[in-house]
Amino acid sequence: MNRRELPIKFEEVSEEEKAQMKRPVGRNYGLVRGTPGNILLPARYADLASSIYNFEFRSDDIVVVTYPKTGTVWTAELLWALTHLDQLHTLDTDHISLRNFFIDRDFIFPPSKDDPSPLVKAFLEKFPNGRVEDGVVLQLAKAETGRRIIKTHLPLHFFNEDLLKKTKVVYVARNPKDTCVSYHFFLRQRQDQTVECDFPTMAEQFMTDKCNYSPFWGHIQPAWDLRDHPNLHFVFYEDMKADIVKELQKINDFLSLDLTVDQLTKVAEATSFDNMRRRDQNQPLVKGTFFRKGIIGDWKNMATPELDAKMDRWIAENSKKLGITFRYA
Ligand code: A3P
Repeated sequence: MNRRELPIKFEEVSEEEKAQMKRPVGRNYGLVRGTPGNILLPARYADLASSIYNFEFRSDDIVVVTYPKTGTVWTAELLWALTHLDQLHTLDTDHISLRNFFIDRDFIFPPSKDDPSPLVKAFLEKFPNGRVEDGVVLQLAKAETGRRIIKTHLPLHFFNEDLLKKTKVVYVARNPKDTCVSYHFFLRQRQDQTVECDFPTMAEQFMTDKCNYSPFWGHIQPAWDLRDHPNLHFVFYEDMKADIVKELQKINDFLSLDLTVDQLTKVAEATSFDNMRRRDQNQPLVKGTFFRKGIIGDWKNMATPELDAKMDRWIAENSKKLGITFRYA
């Protein structure tokens, strides 16, 4: 394939603006905004952007695209389970990060050769002289010969057109209130990169696009606009929580998998919050708590009435522009 020219332009976030940002990962070593969309990313993304944009998709790939903290890991895991029914017994033995390709890991948590993670170990086993700085996940994904479940928080338009022409994309959205709460607790654990801030400050950062991959609405919009595209399936976290088998049935139809209700129920059980959390206790995905609560409506335990009213105004203004409605309970 001829290398495509990268259509994304970068602007470095100024020191002055960075000083106002408490929470983006990358604030210690540089941040960029990628346009179109003005998406806030660690500067290391810029080094890999062309390789990511030129990533060669295959027709049997399934790509999960999400804004962070909206159910990405859950969705990737259930897609893997749906497509690897005969291997469900390995869920308890193999590390979760080896079941899908989280492309962003290469620039969000840039690997080094002495990184003890299972992913880097797997990379070095496969490529003993490989260059981790060229992207561990990218290279492992290229080398994979089986069906790939690929996961990214980059918005749709940061990939070449083959993404939607060739592959099946599942876009997951979660209501912004719970996304913000989940993001708060997740980033609090990343104290090597972020600065401690209280929840109202975090909510302010979230609403003013000072978190990685923000703006929230600008991330959803390209996917929401394409929600009727035959190769894109748009799903809400809240709907998965309300009736997972029903949502799995829709994914089953979208991917033409032809699974029975019994098989879908088995997948739902294997990827339930409790089971994923239990497995994470033996083989953690990240340092700290990843499987935190997994509920709808935690915002109400966190926000004051004033903050809630402010968030409601922000949501009303933006969701109206998109024509999207979220559920909060
Ligand atoms: P909470 O922090 O609200 O608990 P992401 O994978 O995009 O980072 O999203 C993480 C959120 O999804 C966390 O939300 C996590 O607990 C929740 N989650 C992960 N697995 C889940 C599951 N099987 N069922 C429901 N929620 C899940």
